[in-house]
Amino acid sequence: MTSPLFETTHPGEPWPERLGPGAVRLHGFALTEAPALIAEVARIAESAPFRHMITPSGHRMAVAMTNGGALGWVSDRTGYRYEPLDPLTGRPWPPLPDCFLRLAQDAAAQAGFAGFVPDACLINRYQPDARLSLHQDRDERDLSAPIVSVSLGLPAVFLWGGLKWKDPTRRIPLVHGDGLVWGGPDRLRYHGVLPLKAGQHALLGEQRINLTFRQAG
Ligand code: SIN
Ligand code: FE2
Repeated sequence: MTSPLFETTHPGEPWPERLGPGAVRLHGFALTEAPALIAEVARIAESAPFRHMITPSGHRMAVAMTNGGALGWVSDRTGYRYEPLDPLTGRPWPPLPDCFLRLAQDAAAQAGFAGFVPDACLINRYQPDARLSLHQDRDERDLSAPIVSVSLGLPAVFLWGGLKWKDPTRRIPLVHGDGLVWGGPDRLRYHGVLPLKAGQHALLGEQRINLTFRQAG
């Protein structure tokens, strides 16, 4: 039975929530596509394996990463940057699957960023206790394009800060299928992820996968 009162609140139905002038959380946005996205992540990781990169200060990152697209985000002792070749294999990063591209463009458009053409998808894998400390995404050449993020697997708490590192942070729970888009005046907001809580996800087991799409080159 349906009631008009509940038309917009069906469980599992996508809905947008504004977080700032240029930031939107898209609840449940990627739920239907999730199995296909997960299959593509597995395919990408076959040719560009997940690895723990080293920060410029010499620390091994807790989050394991790989990339798809013409450019991939990398970190090592010399700094952060985008590279066309995977330093681990010497080969180009696997191309962005069509379903990745469509999803990212759709999310950006829903958040008001038409014409988003990502050339990079950073794929983050969090296992229990893995965290990502507060940072800005600022290695992309053109900061007028937004960042589009898609969360899969175990839930996480996203830290949503301000334009200064010391600004207060808001805790935003992200669950399987959620999208998050930040651009325009919110593009350089500090953000991070709290240590992942242990758990089991029906599709991904004991992990969280996050895709972030960027227009990097
Ligand atoms: C990132 O900031 O690159 C990833 C954020 C996330 O895993 O949700
Ligand atoms: Fe980031």
